[in-house]
Formats: sequence, structure tokens, C-alpha cells
Amino acid sequence: MDRRTLLAQAASAASLMALAGCGMPLAAVVAEPGDLQSWPSADSRISKIAFGSCIDQTKPQPIWDAILADKPDLFIFGGDNVYASKQPWQLDTLQSAYQTLVTSPGFSQLRKTVPHVAIWDDHDYGLNDGGADFAHKQASKQAFVDFWQLPANDPRRSRDGLYHALTFGPAGYRVQIILLDGRWFRSALKVTDQRNAPGKERYVPDGDPIKTMLGKAQWQWLEAQLRMPADVRLIVSGVQVIAQGHGWEGWGNFPLEQARLLELIRHTQANGVVLLSGDRHIGALYKHQPAGGYPLFELTSSGMTHAWAQAEEAGPNRLGELVTENHYATVEVDWASRQVHLLIKSVQGRVLRRQATALAELI
Ligand SMILES: [Fe+2]
Repeated sequence: MDRRTLLAQAASAASLMALAGCGMPLAAVVAEPGDLQSWPSADSRISKIAFGSCIDQTKPQPIWDAILADKPDLFIFGGDNVYASKQPWQLDTLQSAYQTLVTSPGFSQLRKTVPHVAIWDDHDYGLNDGGADFAHKQASKQAFVDFWQLPANDPRRSRDGLYHALTFGPAGYRVQIILLDGRWFRSALKVTDQRNAPGKERYVPDGDPIKTMLGKAQWQWLEAQLRMPADVRLIVSGVQVIAQGHGWEGWGNFPLEQARLLELIRHTQANGVVLLSGDRHIGALYKHQPAGGYPLFELTSSGMTHAWAQAEEAGPNRLGELVTENHYATVEVDWASRQVHLLIKSVQGRVLRRQATALAELI
């Protein structure tokens, strides 16, 4: 019996015992996902988190060599982890996309050796720019939780959506990762009347107060997460959060929801927030100063296999130029100086963009 089967059996046996009321502790058996050789304990101090999105499973993936050489403490798959959104949607197509990804030696090596966590975006959800009304989301979610080998007792297996949070490190060195599901609950977008016009390429802002990005349960969960103590909080959203000046998908499609998120960060007094996003097939850094709050930085990293070489964007709140070559990103925390460095790196691991901020500024 291989190790994965053994773990899966142990996990389901533990769950059955829990259901039967047996008091046996579960964590030691089920906390470790899948093939991974080691998972940091909750007390482990982590300082380098790598992040990337948009992996076309059919394209070459030399980027894994640089990511593995970078030795991150954690890798975040930020969505579009495979492409399987052709319509009509078929479960077989999604499952074979995942299996093709496994044939990439670099991906397989990372999956075995680097702690990692994943959230989906539209192309692994199953519908380009898809939201709550995607008919096959339940089947797609089952394929996700199985492929990513989530433990049998993971709440994502039983609740709606894939939102998730985890924390590492002792007080004073605590990193919280919050992964938002911007697909499962998301209301219909307002389609542009001028396709490809700069600033309204696909969608225009919709101020309807009924419309939602996260849905009620996820909003409540997020508020509880933001009230937990942490020193650095990485909020991962498939689509961009504060980036301005384009009409692709993003939180700007629902300005009231975007404002609600900024207000939630402010009134929960959640310090240390940095936003991570994908979707756009560009890399970029943005900065926004919310009224009454501290500056919010957003690191967009999208295009591990197929960045958009011709991309243009007005980017009024962007810091520096767009990255239009394939890339990944890292968040590197210097605990000694209490600085956070946001980096975008090339397929060879060369630093393309860098932005630093002091944790003392994110309060
Ligand atoms: Fe993508």
C-alpha cells in the first residue's frame, strides 16, 4: 500500500471514529495533506511564501525549477491552477487537466516537498468569469478537494465554497493566510456596452446592493478571521482587489463589496494585511490608501505559463510597470527588521519588481 492510500485510509478511519463519538485525537493523522513529506507545525516561524497562478497544464513549465530553488516555506496556488473551462463543461476534462498537471515533474516535485495551499479561479472552477450560477460547481469542487488531497475532516469538503485560512508562527511572528472564494457565491457581473474599450474591456461597475462577491457565510467567516491575532495577513483573491483603471474582472465590478472589504479591514483593526491576486495574466504591484486606514498593497502574480505580452493598463494606483513575461511572486518577511518584501520573479528566479513596507506601517 502506498503512503497516500495509507494516509487516506487513516484519515477516513479517524473521521468515522470521530463521527462515532470516539475521543481519539485526529490532528496528527489528518493535518498533513496528501503526498507532502512534511507540513510546518502551527508554531513554525515562516518567512518566505511563494505565490503564483494561471498554469496551463498543456504548456511547458520550466518555472518550477526557479520556485523549487527559491525554497519557499509555503507555496500558494492562486487559481487557474489548470485550465478546464471549455463549454459544455465536462468532469472528465477537469480531471484529465489535473492529471496532466501531475505529469509536470516540477509540479510533482513541489507537491511532494513544499507545503502548499490552493484556491481556485474561473478556469479551474469551470466557467470563464463564472460565478454562483455555474451549474457544475459542486462536481468541480469535489474534483478540487480530491486533487488537492484535502483531509477527510477538512471543512472545505462539507461546506459551500473553498474559502480557507491557516496560520503559522508564534505570537509576534504569526503569518495568517486567508484564501477567499470569489466564485462560488459571486453574483452576475454587469457586462460592458463597449467591449475592449480601455477601462471597460468586459465589465462595468454595478452598484446594486444585493450583489455579492463573497456571500453572507463567507463574509461572516472573514470577519472572524480578521479578528484573530496575526502579524502578517495575506488575503488571497483570485481577481484583483484594489487595482484601478481596467474593466476586466475584479472587486471593482462591485464597488459596494470592494468598499465593504476595506471597511471590514479597518473596523476589525486587522493589522498587517497584504493582498495577493491573479487572473490578469500580468504581474504588478498596486498601492491604495483607504480613508481612515493604513496603505494597502496588492501583489498580482498571474501567468506562470502564459503571461500576456501585449498587456496594457492605465493603472492609476500601480507601482511601476506591468510584468508581461511569465513569472511568480514571493512575500518575504524579514522578522529582524519587521519588513515585508513583495517580489515578482522571472522564470529564472530573477527579481523583476520589488516593494518593501514596514509592518509598523500596516497598522
Ligand atoms: Fe488565467
